Amino acid sequence: MLKIKGINAYYGDLHAIKDVSLEVKHGEIVALLGVNASGKSTTVKSISGLIENLDGEIYYNGECINEMPANKRTELGLIQVPEGRQLFPFLTVRENLEMGAFTKEARNKLNENMERVFELFPEMKKKEKQIAGTMSGGEQQMCAIGRGLMSNPKLIMLDEPTLGLAPLIVKKIFNIIRELRDMNITVLLIEQNVRQSLKIADRAYMLSNGKIIKEGTALDLMDSNDIKQGYLGV
Ligand SMILES: Nc1ncnc2c1ncn2[C@@H]1O[C@H](COP(=O)(O)OP(=O)(O)OP(=O)(O)O)[C@@H](O)[C@H]1O
Ligand SMILES: [Mg+2]
Repeated sequence: MLKIKGINAYYGDLHAIKDVSLEVKHGEIVALLGVNASGKSTTVKSISGLIENLDGEIYYNGECINEMPANKRTELGLIQVPEGRQLFPFLTVRENLEMGAFTKEARNKLNENMERVFELFPEMKKKEKQIAGTMSGGEQQMCAIGRGLMSNPKLIMLDEPTLGLAPLIVKKIFNIIRELRDMNITVLLIEQNVRQSLKIADRAYMLSNGKIIKEGTALDLMDSNDIKQGYLGV
Protein backbone atom coordinates (compact mmCIF):
# COMPACT_ATOMS: atom_id res chain seq x y z
CA MET A 1 0.00 0.00 0.00
CA LEU A 2 2.81 2.39 0.99
CA LYS A 3 6.41 1.88 0.05
CA ILE A 4 9.23 4.33 0.63
CA LYS A 5 12.62 3.69 -0.86
CA GLY A 6 15.89 5.32 0.13
CA ILE A 7 14.47 8.54 1.56
CA ASN A 8 16.86 11.28 2.68
CA ALA A 9 15.49 14.44 4.30
CA TYR A 10 17.39 17.56 5.20
CA TYR A 11 16.76 20.65 7.31
CA GLY A 12 19.44 23.02 6.05
CA ASP A 13 22.71 21.27 6.80
CA LEU A 14 21.10 18.68 9.04
CA HIS A 15 20.69 15.29 7.39
CA ALA A 16 17.67 14.22 9.46
CA ILE A 17 16.80 10.88 7.86
CA LYS A 18 19.25 8.74 5.96
CA ASP A 19 18.36 6.21 3.31
CA VAL A 20 15.13 5.17 5.03
CA SER A 21 13.09 2.47 3.31
CA LEU A 22 9.92 0.98 4.67
CA GLU A 23 6.70 -0.66 3.61
CA VAL A 24 3.18 -0.78 4.97
CA LYS A 25 0.86 -3.40 3.51
CA HIS A 26 -2.90 -3.08 3.38
CA GLY A 27 -4.49 -4.17 6.67
CA GLU A 28 -1.33 -4.02 8.75
CA ILE A 29 -0.38 -2.12 11.87
CA VAL A 30 3.25 -1.16 11.35
CA ALA A 31 5.18 0.51 14.16
CA LEU A 32 7.91 3.05 13.51
CA LEU A 33 9.88 3.24 16.73
CA GLY A 34 12.77 5.29 18.03
CA VAL A 35 13.88 7.67 20.78
CA ASN A 36 13.62 11.48 20.60
CA ALA A 37 15.15 13.08 17.50
CA SER A 38 15.64 9.74 15.74
CA GLY A 39 13.68 11.01 12.72
CA LYS A 40 10.22 9.51 13.25
CA SER A 41 8.21 12.68 12.62
CA THR A 42 10.43 13.63 9.69
CA THR A 43 9.65 10.26 8.11
CA VAL A 44 5.91 10.77 8.56
CA LYS A 45 6.06 14.33 7.26
CA SER A 46 7.99 13.09 4.23
CA ILE A 47 5.18 10.65 3.48
CA SER A 48 2.58 13.41 3.95
CA GLY A 49 4.43 15.75 1.60
CA LEU A 50 5.47 18.28 4.23
CA ILE A 51 9.26 18.12 3.82
CA GLU A 52 10.81 20.34 1.18
CA ASN A 53 14.29 19.01 0.95
CA LEU A 54 13.84 15.34 0.21
CA ASP A 55 15.17 12.67 -2.09
CA GLY A 56 14.19 9.06 -2.59
CA GLU A 57 10.94 7.52 -3.74
CA ILE A 58 7.49 7.26 -2.16
CA TYR A 59 4.87 4.95 -3.66
CA TYR A 60 1.24 4.84 -2.59
CA ASN A 61 -0.85 2.04 -4.09
CA GLY A 62 1.82 1.60 -6.75
CA GLU A 63 1.90 5.27 -7.78
CA CYS A 64 4.97 7.43 -7.23
CA ILE A 65 3.72 10.40 -5.18
CA ASN A 66 7.02 12.29 -4.75
CA GLU A 67 5.71 15.30 -6.65
CA MET A 68 2.15 15.12 -5.35
CA PRO A 69 1.11 18.06 -3.11
CA ALA A 70 0.11 17.29 0.48
CA ASN A 71 -3.60 18.07 -0.02
CA LYS A 72 -3.82 15.60 -2.91
CA ARG A 73 -2.28 12.88 -0.72
CA THR A 74 -4.99 13.60 1.87
CA GLU A 75 -7.66 13.16 -0.80
CA LEU A 76 -6.22 9.72 -1.52
CA GLY A 77 -6.75 8.72 2.10
CA LEU A 78 -3.19 9.17 3.35
CA ILE A 79 -3.86 10.91 6.64
CA GLN A 80 -1.49 12.08 9.36
CA VAL A 81 -2.55 12.70 12.97
CA PRO A 82 0.27 15.03 13.97
CA GLU A 83 2.43 14.88 17.04
CA GLY A 84 1.12 17.06 19.88
CA ARG A 85 -2.49 16.74 18.64
CA GLN A 86 -2.59 20.23 17.03
CA LEU A 87 -6.26 20.81 17.76
CA PHE A 88 -7.87 24.22 17.37
CA PRO A 89 -7.93 24.95 21.11
CA PHE A 90 -10.65 27.62 21.02
CA LEU A 91 -13.07 25.60 18.92
CA THR A 92 -15.45 22.98 20.28
CA VAL A 93 -14.91 19.25 19.90
CA ARG A 94 -17.55 19.07 17.16
CA GLU A 95 -15.99 22.00 15.30
CA ASN A 96 -12.57 20.37 15.50
CA LEU A 97 -14.02 17.15 14.10
CA GLU A 98 -15.69 19.06 11.28
CA MET A 99 -12.34 20.62 10.41
CA GLY A 100 -11.12 17.10 9.58
CA ALA A 101 -13.69 16.81 6.80
CA PHE A 102 -12.03 19.12 4.32
CA THR A 103 -11.98 17.00 1.19
CA LYS A 104 -15.09 16.85 -0.99
CA GLU A 105 -15.63 13.15 -0.29
CA ALA A 106 -15.24 13.71 3.45
CA ARG A 107 -17.70 16.62 3.41
CA ASN A 108 -20.27 14.41 1.71
CA LYS A 109 -19.83 11.76 4.37
CA LEU A 110 -19.60 14.18 7.29
CA ASN A 111 -22.60 12.93 9.28
CA GLU A 112 -21.77 9.27 8.72
CA ASN A 113 -18.14 9.79 9.75
CA MET A 114 -19.16 11.85 12.79
CA GLU A 115 -21.37 8.96 13.95
CA ARG A 116 -18.47 6.57 13.46
CA VAL A 117 -16.19 8.79 15.59
CA PHE A 118 -18.84 9.02 18.32
CA GLU A 119 -19.24 5.23 18.30
CA LEU A 120 -15.53 4.78 18.71
CA PHE A 121 -15.23 7.58 21.29
CA PRO A 122 -18.51 7.96 23.22
CA GLU A 123 -16.63 10.51 25.39
CA MET A 124 -16.45 12.86 22.40
CA LYS A 125 -20.20 12.68 21.90
CA LYS A 126 -20.72 13.72 25.52
CA LYS A 127 -18.26 16.57 25.13
CA GLU A 128 -19.07 17.67 21.61
CA LYS A 129 -19.78 21.26 22.76
CA GLN A 130 -16.75 21.52 25.04
CA ILE A 131 -13.90 23.83 24.01
CA ALA A 132 -11.14 21.48 22.90
CA GLY A 133 -8.35 23.28 24.75
CA THR A 134 -10.09 22.71 28.08
CA MET A 135 -10.08 18.92 27.77
CA SER A 136 -7.59 16.51 29.33
CA GLY A 137 -4.62 15.30 27.28
CA GLY A 138 -6.24 11.93 26.70
CA GLU A 139 -9.49 13.48 25.54
CA GLN A 140 -7.61 15.80 23.22
CA GLN A 141 -5.80 12.81 21.72
CA MET A 142 -9.12 11.06 21.09
CA CYS A 143 -10.40 14.22 19.43
CA ALA A 144 -7.26 14.38 17.25
CA ILE A 145 -7.66 10.76 16.13
CA GLY A 146 -11.37 11.48 15.59
CA ARG A 147 -10.50 14.44 13.40
CA GLY A 148 -8.19 12.21 11.36
CA LEU A 149 -11.04 9.73 10.91
CA MET A 150 -13.25 12.53 9.57
CA SER A 151 -11.00 12.70 6.47
CA ASN A 152 -11.77 9.13 5.37
CA PRO A 153 -8.34 7.62 5.94
CA LYS A 154 -7.25 4.50 4.15
CA LEU A 155 -3.84 4.71 5.77
CA ILE A 156 -3.64 6.64 9.03
CA MET A 157 -0.28 7.73 10.44
CA LEU A 158 -0.45 8.36 14.18
CA ASP A 159 2.53 10.38 15.43
CA GLU A 160 3.07 9.51 19.11
CA PRO A 161 -0.58 9.17 20.08
CA THR A 162 0.18 8.13 23.68
CA LEU A 163 2.87 10.65 24.58
CA GLY A 164 2.41 12.00 28.10
CA LEU A 165 -0.77 10.04 28.82
CA ALA A 166 -1.54 7.95 31.91
CA PRO A 167 -1.31 4.14 31.63
CA LEU A 168 -5.06 3.55 31.56
CA ILE A 169 -5.63 5.94 28.70
CA VAL A 170 -2.57 4.62 26.87
CA LYS A 171 -4.19 1.19 26.98
CA LYS A 172 -7.40 2.64 25.65
CA ILE A 173 -5.65 4.35 22.73
CA PHE A 174 -3.85 1.12 21.83
CA ASN A 175 -7.20 -0.71 21.86
CA ILE A 176 -8.64 1.95 19.58
CA ILE A 177 -5.72 1.43 17.16
CA ARG A 178 -6.66 -2.24 16.93
CA GLU A 179 -10.24 -1.23 16.23
CA LEU A 180 -9.08 1.04 13.42
CA ARG A 181 -7.51 -1.93 11.73
CA ASP A 182 -10.76 -3.85 12.18
CA MET A 183 -12.47 -0.94 10.40
CA ASN A 184 -10.22 -1.64 7.38
CA ILE A 185 -7.92 1.31 8.08
CA THR A 186 -4.22 0.51 7.73
CA VAL A 187 -2.05 2.02 10.47
CA LEU A 188 1.47 3.42 10.64
CA LEU A 189 2.03 3.91 14.36
CA ILE A 190 4.88 6.19 15.43
CA GLU A 191 5.83 5.52 19.02
CA GLN A 192 8.50 5.61 21.69
CA ASN A 193 6.53 3.11 23.74
CA VAL A 194 8.30 0.08 22.27
CA ARG A 195 6.86 -2.63 24.48
CA GLN A 196 3.20 -1.77 23.98
CA SER A 197 3.59 -0.95 20.30
CA LEU A 198 5.16 -4.32 19.59
CA LYS A 199 2.20 -6.00 21.29
CA ILE A 200 -0.27 -4.61 18.77
CA ALA A 201 1.90 -4.22 15.66
CA ASP A 202 2.31 -6.80 12.91
CA ARG A 203 5.72 -5.49 11.89
CA ALA A 204 8.05 -2.79 13.12
CA TYR A 205 11.01 -0.61 12.18
CA MET A 206 13.47 0.88 14.65
CA LEU A 207 14.98 4.25 13.78
CA SER A 208 18.15 5.54 15.39
CA ASN A 209 19.91 8.75 14.35
CA GLY A 210 17.87 8.92 11.17
CA LYS A 211 18.61 5.35 10.06
CA ILE A 212 16.59 2.15 10.20
CA ILE A 213 18.66 -0.10 12.44
CA LYS A 214 16.23 -2.99 12.74
CA GLU A 215 13.11 -4.24 10.98
CA GLY A 216 10.98 -7.33 11.11
CA THR A 217 7.86 -8.82 12.58
CA ALA A 218 6.87 -7.52 16.00
CA LEU A 219 7.84 -10.93 17.41
CA ASP A 220 11.31 -10.71 15.79
CA LEU A 221 11.91 -7.35 17.40
CA MET A 222 10.64 -8.51 20.79
CA ASP A 223 13.08 -11.41 20.63
CA SER A 224 16.03 -9.34 19.45
CA ASN A 225 18.75 -8.89 22.03
CA ASP A 226 19.58 -5.36 20.82
CA ILE A 227 15.97 -4.29 21.21
CA LYS A 228 15.63 -6.02 24.57
CA GLN A 229 18.75 -4.38 25.95
CA GLY A 230 18.41 -0.99 24.27
CA TYR A 231 14.69 -0.38 24.43
CA LEU A 232 12.88 -2.87 26.65
CA GLY A 233 15.19 -2.73 29.65
CA VAL A 234 15.48 -6.50 30.04
N1 LIG B 1 11.78 22.02 11.21
C1 LIG B 1 12.99 21.60 11.57
N2 LIG B 1 14.08 22.39 11.39
C2 LIG B 1 15.32 21.95 11.73
N3 LIG B 1 15.58 20.75 12.28
C3 LIG B 1 14.54 19.94 12.50
C4 LIG B 1 13.19 20.32 12.16
N4 LIG B 1 12.37 19.30 12.49
C5 LIG B 1 13.14 18.33 13.01
N5 LIG B 1 14.44 18.70 13.03
C6 LIG B 1 15.58 17.89 13.50
O1 LIG B 1 15.57 16.66 12.79
C7 LIG B 1 15.90 15.58 13.66
C8 LIG B 1 14.79 14.55 13.64
O2 LIG B 1 13.63 15.14 14.20
P1 LIG B 1 12.22 14.41 14.27
O3 LIG B 1 11.24 15.43 14.71
O4 LIG B 1 11.98 13.72 12.98
O5 LIG B 1 12.48 13.33 15.40
P2 LIG B 1 11.45 12.40 16.20
O6 LIG B 1 12.00 11.03 16.15
O7 LIG B 1 10.08 12.64 15.71
O8 LIG B 1 11.61 12.96 17.68
P3 LIG B 1 10.52 13.12 18.87
O9 LIG B 1 10.34 11.75 19.45
O10 LIG B 1 11.18 14.04 19.83
O11 LIG B 1 9.26 13.67 18.28
C9 LIG B 1 16.15 16.20 15.03
O12 LIG B 1 17.53 16.36 15.20
C10 LIG B 1 15.45 17.54 14.95
O13 LIG B 1 16.08 18.50 15.76
MG1 LIG C 1 8.39 13.34 16.56
